[in-house]
Amino acid sequence: MKKRILITGGAGFIGSHVVKLFVEKYPEYSIVNLDALTYAGNLENLKEVEGAPNYQFEKVDIQDAEALDAVFSKHKITDVIHLAAESHVDRSISDPLAFVKTNVIGTVNLLNAAKKAWGEELDQHLFYHVSTDEVYGSLHDGGFFLETTPYDPQSPYSASKAASDHFVRAYANTYKMKTVISNCSNNYGPNHFPEKLIPLCINNIKNMRPLPVYGKGENVRDWLFVKDHARAIDTVFHKGKPGETYNIGGFNEWKNIDIVRLLCKKMDEKLGREPGTSEQLITFVKDRAGHDLRYAIDATKIQKELSWEPSLQFEEGIDLTIDWYLQNQDWLDHVTSGSYQDYYREHYES
Ligand code: NAD
Ligand code: TYD
Repeated sequence: MKKRILITGGAGFIGSHVVKLFVEKYPEYSIVNLDALTYAGNLENLKEVEGAPNYQFEKVDIQDAEALDAVFSKHKITDVIHLAAESHVDRSISDPLAFVKTNVIGTVNLLNAAKKAWGEELDQHLFYHVSTDEVYGSLHDGGFFLETTPYDPQSPYSASKAASDHFVRAYANTYKMKTVISNCSNNYGPNHFPEKLIPLCINNIKNMRPLPVYGKGENVRDWLFVKDHARAIDTVFHKGKPGETYNIGGFNEWKNIDIVRLLCKKMDEKLGREPGTSEQLITFVKDRAGHDLRYAIDATKIQKELSWEPSLQFEEGIDLTIDWYLQNQDWLDHVTSGSYQDYYREHYES
């Protein structure tokens, strides 16, 4: 059966890299990108594939169950890779309900649409849910997140993603839907919306604006280049065992303050500034409420069982990322105009 894959959230940061990888690598598949184009969705992320014969776009909100049914029947969808979500922890703290609506209800709507469309042949189709390591909570005493680590979400964002993961597993158990889940650590790279730490700092360093570091900057994240995550999603989609979970990570832990300093150093070099110029922009600000201390992934299972591993060293990926932002001023101008200004003022200046 020819694969006609529905990728949700394909106009966002990670989704756009997944769409581009699938459209370019698998001309024999049909790829349907479904996205509501919220503040985080941007068709400019997909310029490379917009005219491709195996690519189509549907502007649909996953909160709209009827519209989802229509997309499944119009495109005879055979498989789903689900990335659409509200994704920013800070926004989840000020508006948790938006995260319930999209991440929980939206995911259940999508599961229902798939179940209805695939009927008696559920075992011939795959529902792949893309999730986060934040569902495991916060590490305080060393150690790593394993696939068997109990869920312990701490923010409204991670609680909503944990709920959606549980629903996917419940559909596998109850209705025998063929599902797979991956939980990945923090991504960085081109097309990352500048509300998240790395692109926000790149944009602010460029414009000589303050770099807001929450608390003391001691919190630790594991970082993975977005194209390596897209490669992992390709691997799990094609080789993952149904019913399984795969942790995806970069084997690359950094304290926030060290990342911000690295960005300052590299951008001083690239912009021809005196060494130390950008570091003066670092500003310690009020900590995030309930700020998770450390995320660290043990990605041995995907490495051993599916032969995936990150291809880029962090400093190499950071160079590529900074260069992309410096070369794509139009993209930055578009995404930082309008509502971004309001968000920034409300979150950082009030
Ligand atoms: P993003 O915020 O950049 O993009 C989300 C996309 O989903 C946008 O294109 C947006 O328009 C779309 N969307 C939002 N609400 C929608 C709705 N109701 N209906 C349809 N489309 C909607 O997010 P991202 O960083 O690309 O993350 C993608 C997925 O990967 C999410 O599920 C996220 O939880 C997961 N994830 C992200 C990271 C990370 O570091 N960014 C790490 C692990 C997992
Ligand atoms: P973020 O990029 O929002 O990802 P997540 O919260 O999903 O890990 O934040 C990464 C880390 O950077 C996190 O510990 C919070 C911190 N941070 C700041 O210190 N300042 C900021 O302005 C932002 C957005 C994040």
